Amino acid sequence: MKKLVFATNNPHKLAEVRALIPQWEIVSLSDIGCFDEIPETAATLEGNAKQKADFITRKYGYDCFADDTGLEVEALNGAPGVYSARYAGETATPKDNIQKLLDRLKNTTNKKAQFKTVVALNLKGETHLFEGVCKGHILEKETGKSSFGYDPIFLPDGFTKSFAQMTKGEKGAISHRGKAIHKLIRFLES
Ligand code: IMP
Repeated sequence: MKKLVFATNNPHKLAEVRALIPQWEIVSLSDIGCFDEIPETAATLEGNAKQKADFITRKYGYDCFADDTGLEVEALNGAPGVYSARYAGETATPKDNIQKLLDRLKNTTNKKAQFKTVVALNLKGETHLFEGVCKGHILEKETGKSSFGYDPIFLPDGFTKSFAQMTKGEKGAISHRGKAIHKLIRFLES
């Protein structure tokens, strides 16, 4: 089985990506003994994804890929975007971030939003970028059980279930990360 390092220890991302690429062994950062705090200081999703992948390739020597994701809300001019993880502050929990977003949108009828993922792959000394977008709306309140990020308040267009009410397979088939990872797979297998 072919192996590739995914520069994350986020269990939700790992589970989603492993389900999307069952034909590859996806190795996490803890699997390679990396417990570093990897800097994410770029001003764009592309920059952060590249920064994470480059850190691992430089320090550990592995070909690898990393993803960076942002939730872009139309009425907030694209915020929280690249700052999604820290929207409610440096030590914010997903619940804090969701609460801040719901507060900001309380008085607006335009709830349009999209998730965007950028995957950066370092392979044989070259970097390749893959992007996936999923359009939808922000719900009035948290709906569903999954506790991953903003999933409980995101309703993808054309569906009646929030991301947090979907199975991994249902989410992966339409999600930002699913689309970016499918592009990565097509590239790796071409
Ligand atoms: P990062 O890509 O790990 O930097 O994630 C940025 C922020 O978006 C964090 O708050 C994550 O919890 C959140 N996030 C990333 N991917 C998803 C997703 O697929 N659904 C919901 N929230 C996500």
